[in-house]
Formats: sequence, C-alpha cells, structure tokens
Amino acid sequence: MQVKNTLLLDALKCKETPRPPVWMMRQAGRYLPQYQAIRSTMSFLDLCKNSQKAAEVSIQPYEILGVDGIIMFSDILVPLEPMGACVSFDSGKPEFKSPIRSQQDIEKLIELDVPSLETKCSYVFETIEEIARRTHNEVPILGFAGAPWTLASYMIEGGGSKDFALIKRFTYQHPEAMMMLLDKLSFTIANHLIAKIKHGVHAVQLFDTWASSLSQEDYRLFALPYQQKIISQIRAVYPDISITLYINGCANVLDMMMESGANCLSIDWRMNLNDTRNYVLAAHGMAGFPKLAIQGNLDPCTLLAPKSFVIDATKYMLEMATNDPGYIANLGHGILPEVPVENALAFIQTVQAHKC
Ligand code: CP3
Repeated sequence: MQVKNTLLLDALKCKETPRPPVWMMRQAGRYLPQYQAIRSTMSFLDLCKNSQKAAEVSIQPYEILGVDGIIMFSDILVPLEPMGACVSFDSGKPEFKSPIRSQQDIEKLIELDVPSLETKCSYVFETIEEIARRTHNEVPILGFAGAPWTLASYMIEGGGSKDFALIKRFTYQHPEAMMMLLDKLSFTIANHLIAKIKHGVHAVQLFDTWASSLSQEDYRLFALPYQQKIISQIRAVYPDISITLYINGCANVLDMMMESGANCLSIDWRMNLNDTRNYVLAAHGMAGFPKLAIQGNLDPCTLLAPKSFVIDATKYMLEMATNDPGYIANLGHGILPEVPVENALAFIQTVQAHKC
C-alpha cells in the first residue's frame, strides 16, 4: 500500500529527498508519559499481545513528535515464546527461566513457518493492521526482528550480559549445536518478517545488537551467515523490500555488514558518520557493492543534555551526514527512559528543519 510520507522509504532506497527522514529506535517507550499511563495498567507482554493497545503506543511517537515512520510495538524476544522458550519481563528486564544448556534443549525448539506464526502470534499481525487503519497510510510502518546471534545470547545467558561468557562457552564447546540453534532461529525470524510484510509493514529492521561482541572470525561463522540466510529468504518472497541491519558497536564488522544483503546499515555513535558514508559510497563505486543507505547515529545520551546542546549536536550530525541521498536520521541505539520529551522533540524538529 502506497504511503503519503515517502521520505523514509525513498531514503532507504537512496533516492533524493527534500530533507532526511527521522525516527528513533525504541521511540515507543517509557520516556513518554502517555506510554507509561497505558503500561501502568498492564504488563509489558500483555501490552505486546493486546493489538489495540500495542497499536496505540506505536502511534504515540507519531502523534506527539511527528516522526517519519512508525515502528510497531513489540519486542525481539516475542517470537521466541511460540518456539518453546519461556521469556518473562516481570523484573523489567528480559529473563529466561530455563536458559539453553544442551543440544537437547535446542532440539525441543519448534521452527515456525508463516501460517503457524500467523496462528500463534496473531496479535503481532493484528497490531500492524490496526496501525494502518488508524493512520490511514500517512506514514510507513516498520517491522523488526532480532538476528539469531542476539536472540541466542538472551536464550543462553538467560538475560542481558556484559561479557557473553555463557554463549561463547557454549559456542566453543558445542559449535554444531550452536549452528542448529542459529539455523532454527533464522528460519523462524525470516518467516516472522515475511509475515509482517504480508500484513502491511513497509520496511523491516534486523537487530543484531550484540553481534559486535564477536571477533571478526567468529562473526563470519556465527553472525553473518544467519543474517544472510534471513535476508535472502525474505528477498525470495519480497525482492524490493528495504532491510536495515543494526549492530551496536559495529566498527569492527562494518565490512561484513556490507555483505549481509541489507540495503541500509544502522550505525552507533562511536562511528564517524562522515567517514562511514564515504567508505560505503567508495565500496559501491570500487568493489561493486550495492548502494547502501546509512541510518544513525546520535549518542542516545545526548538527549539528556540541555536542549540547546541537543539542537547543536543534531545539526553537527546532519553536517557529517552530508546531503547525499540515502541517509536516515536516528539515534545510535534506543532512546533512554530518562530523556525529556522536549529534547526528543528538539532532535526530531531539528532534522525536519534541515534542507538537503
Ligand atoms: O523501537 C520501538 O519503539 C519498538 C519496540 C521495541 C522494543 N524493543 C520495546 C521494548 C524494539 C524494536 C525493541 C528491540 C529490542 N528488545 C532489542 C534490540 C534493540 C536494542 O535496543 O538493542 C533488544 C536487545 C531487546 C530486548 C529487551 N527488551 C531488553 C533488553 C529490555 C529491557 C531493558 C529496556 O531497555 O527496557 C526489553 C524491554 C522493552 N522492549 C521495553 C520496550 C518499550 C521496556 C518494557 C517496559 O515498558 O517496561
């Protein structure tokens, strides 16, 4: 379905736009009092499973801040539940009560095709349809999923981690079992994204947030092939869909991100935006890589600074991005719950006042 505001979809395809599109990772969330009001009445997972309320919180940043895209409200860990992994958010952070410890644990996990996802996670697809109904196709809707390494890290660590010691120990002790897990996740995640596109999202983003914890050699074995599998499985059904790949701390794996098949790379704030844009452009010119869009990359903590600082930092980011087509303004990671709404608004409006 054609949308009225095409800035984001055009920039993802490296087409000229009058100004860069802008949205924020985790834009539907706790920094918004309107989100907190709804969240105080139900648990996080119940909110994800209630398509009316999930659509409402997805749309809040569009109504309050005027962002150029609506990311549907859910979580990367949601599709793991129907695979047979039990996740809870009761403590505020994700927790797996029975983390994966053996090949048998992996064998028990169910791989899901599109029809079984449509049955088991119907609320996800109803949320997308509800967002489209309520916004009358004014702006694009973004779908997302976690990439296998990042999802596996939660399933094996049992939650968040600093050093990823448990998943790495498992990987080195049982590389074949690990590959079986990553394969099962790839299949399900690709189908999950295919189903999201079928039900109306206009572009998708793959979060491999923690893949930068790997050495380059291990990334080539345990992250890149599974990103590639997911992306080619999606492109076999939807050849023209825009796919963005995000990694937090992506400097040491940028070259391999370019091999993933994604047409947009979402980079963190530790990268120099100007150098990255030039590097990706040169790779396109010299090595024949497809033309890639870049998304990012303001440090989310910048939004905790005084408003005038937020405006200056955003202007500096735009200068670094240059006016070449193929740039999407965003943060370098998700917005923090402590951010004042007026600072988030200053970020969005500063981008929207910029002329290419
Ligand atoms: O971007 C959006 O607005 C869409 C919704 C979205 C959420 N999580 C909602 C959420 C998206 C795209 C995610 C992705 C996600 N979830 C990632 C990848 C991106 C990233 O930030 O690195 C990861 C690693 C997760 C896993 C996860 N979910 C964690 C670690 C936590 C707890 C810590 C935290 O930041 O709150 C969650 C919970 C979660 N997911 C919340 C939201 C709004 C907070 C839940 C609450 O309301 O209490």
